[in-house]
Formats: sequence, C-alpha cells, structure tokens
Amino acid sequence: MLATRPDIDAEHELLQRLAEARLRTDELFGLLRPDSFYERPISERHRIIFYLGHLEAFDWNLLRSSVLEAQVFDPEFDRLFAFGIDPVGGGLPSDQPTDWPGVEDVRRYVGRVRQTLDAKLASSIHSDSKSCDEFPAGLLLNVAVEHRLMHAETLTYMLHQLPIDRKVPQAVQPESVFPIVEPAMVKIPAGSTTLGLPRGDDSVFGWDNEYEAHLVSVPAFAIDWYKVTNRQYLEFMEAGGYENQALWNSADWNWKNEHSLSHPAFWKRTNEDWYYRTMFRQVPLPLDWPVYVSHAEAAAYARWRKNSLPTEAQWHRAAYGSRDGFERPYPWGGEPPSGKRGNFDFRGWDPTPVNAFPEGQSALGVADLLGNGWEWTSSQFEPFPGFKPFPFYPGYSADFFDGKHYVLKGGSARTAACMLRRSFRNWFQPHYQYVYASFRCVSN
Ligand code: AVJ
Ligand code: FE
Repeated sequence: MLATRPDIDAEHELLQRLAEARLRTDELFGLLRPDSFYERPISERHRIIFYLGHLEAFDWNLLRSSVLEAQVFDPEFDRLFAFGIDPVGGGLPSDQPTDWPGVEDVRRYVGRVRQTLDAKLASSIHSDSKSCDEFPAGLLLNVAVEHRLMHAETLTYMLHQLPIDRKVPQAVQPESVFPIVEPAMVKIPAGSTTLGLPRGDDSVFGWDNEYEAHLVSVPAFAIDWYKVTNRQYLEFMEAGGYENQALWNSADWNWKNEHSLSHPAFWKRTNEDWYYRTMFRQVPLPLDWPVYVSHAEAAAYARWRKNSLPTEAQWHRAAYGSRDGFERPYPWGGEPPSGKRGNFDFRGWDPTPVNAFPEGQSALGVADLLGNGWEWTSSQFEPFPGFKPFPFYPGYSADFFDGKHYVLKGGSARTAACMLRRSFRNWFQPHYQYVYASFRCVSN
C-alpha cells in the first residue's frame, strides 16, 4: 500500500473547512431581505455589497498566483473588493449605492471564483507539482479559512445594526434559567505567562501577530470572576457615569459628547424601561448578560469602580495560569472547545448569562473567558518581539500597529472554535461600539 502524504490529508481537511466557512458566510447573506445589500448599517464601514464580493476576491487574490496558476478574468472586481476600511478619527465614506455593481454581477463573480478555485485546488492536491510554490498551500488555505470566519463574525456585527425587520428571523436558542449572578473578584498569584506562538511548528496555524512566543512575568492582582454584566453597567449609568468627566480620558469624553452617547449601542430606552436589541428581537434588558460596549465606555466603568482593564498579560495569566506553574492550552484544560465550555462557535446568536458555563472556568477560578463576548484589554495592539509580517499579506496586522487599536481576547458566540486558541489576538479602535465585546476589571 502507498503511504499517504500527511500534507494531502491536511489539505483535504482545509478544503472541507473552507466549504464549511462558505456555508457560514452564505447563511449571513441569506438573512438579508433582497433590498438590503446597499445598506450601510455602520457609517464607518463599507456597504453590505462590498462584503459579498470581498470574501471571494480575498481568496482569489491570495491563492490565484501563489498556489494555482489561474488566469485573471475580472481585474476590476479583484481590485474593487480587495480590502475593507477602518478609518480612524472621523472621516466617513461617502460612496453611493450606484457606485457599486449589481448584486447579480457580484454573485456571478463569486460563483466563477469558487468554481475556478475549487477545480484548481482539487487537482493541485493530487499532483506533486507543488514543490516550486512560494508559500505552503496549507498556510494560505488557513489564512483564507480564518479570514472568512472572521468576516462571518464582523459581518454579523454589521447585520446586527440593521433594523430587525430587514432580516429574516431565525429560531432562537431556548433559554435556561441560571441563578442570579453574584459578582466577585478572584485573586491571581504572581507568576509568568506565555504570550504568542513559537516559530517553526508547521502543524499549528497562527497569524503574523501571534509570533513570537515569549514569557511575561505578572505581579499578583485580582480580576472579576465574571464579565461585567448589564446589571452592573446600569448601576454605573444610574450613578451618572456618562456625565462624569473625571471617569473619561479627553479623547473618549469628546467622542462620547460628539455622538451624544448615554448608553451602550445595544440598549434602547422606551419610557422608563431599558430594552436590548439582539440580532432578531428586542427584549427587556437581560441583566445577567455581559455588557457589550466600546473600549472608551469599558475604561470609564473601570475607573468608576476604582479598577482598571486587564493588560493582555494579566488576562492570559488569569485564563491559562495555574497554581503549579503549568499553563493550560484552554482555560478549562487540554480538551478541545465543546458546547459545555462556553458560548462560542456559532452556538446561538445571543449572549448567555455570564455564569452559564461553570465547566469553562480556568484553573485559577475565572469564569466565562472564552466565548459570550470578546474582552477589551488595556494593551495597545503592538507587535510581539520578533514579529514578521506575512509577505503575502503585509498589512494584515502591521497597518494597525498605530497606537489607535486595543487588543481583545476571548471570543463571542459568533467566533469559530479555531480562533479560540490561546495565542489569537483580536483588535479594534477604542470608539467602535458594535463589536460583541465586553470586559472585566482588575485591581492591582
Ligand atoms: C482582526 C477582526 C480586527 O475585521 O478588521 C478581516 C479581520 N482583516 N479582513 C477586521 C480582517 C481583514 C480584522 N480583525
Ligand atoms: Fe477582509
């Protein structure tokens, strides 16, 4: 019998994952009423139609020349849909719906890209002619899969902001009842924690910003057992948090005033009552769900509590450290992510109470770390020592090492399981309110 080449199996698995990721993003476009593709639910971002073309243009631009010798058939769309936007500091896009191609034209492009890529990928796996490739096909396929899965999440933030009646409602997960959350802080002893991934292990995928591995020593501190809940955040609002300038740095204060913000973007007030806008419904404010806010709002709350946001290293230590000095791959141990560990991997559309997953708790006793909402840290998004950009996508991280983005850790209900790895780092601007992002406080 012929020995199977291990990279063939690995590549088959990646093609399978690419197919599954496509189902995820197709599902999202399927939630839209047909007249919604030219909407811009978030004023800083592209219209929805961009994302329909972007996911395929990205895969095509990435794989076409380096892995497959395929012919360009629509250079204009390849360019138009190549990159998204993340403007910092005010400037908003002003393009009109008529500046964009029709939905049918974009769908035809998507179909043709998929067909060409799939045919080429299937045949390239079975041939041995890949030795002259510039980059390993497995690396590029991982980039394509995770890029698409990240958009499955960021596109969901965007569709979240569309009026509910523009979306096709989905079944909601039946809700269990949990005891009322009793907030507390957990003591974390001094110790060290490993950030990042070691180079050289081709069996593990990481983005450029996850390299290299390094040890950071962290003095003792205390951290919230759970993420801050809507109930806790409401106390801050009722205590005048949005009107107390002392709690905000000046950029955050100005931003809040300019946009007349007085509550989280997901909340809505009707008469005296607070409601919460989930993806498909409006419900009375669920008090034990994590609060989703911008970094600016999270930092103001933390200051009100006379605490601060955790650094990236503190968050790591609380999540992966233990009393015996060993570090765990996941907060709960070495088992891969599964439904009993947290609210992630597209389990549902909504948050759960922060105490819903006792089996996800870390060795040091901190709960709800992976899933149910990303967590803001106080660490700016910066390269780790030894950082090297991916030559085939130099701007992926490096464009955001600008002192204007903060690291988030953890994951949300709409974060794919593969991105729950310890080294994964997310980042957003401090004034971006639409992420499924929560936080917890530390006292030092
Ligand atoms: C890593 C989620 C911040 O959405 O801006 C997608 C991911 N980069 N396409 C983003 C990304 C390019 C990125 N985040
Ligand atoms: Fe993208």
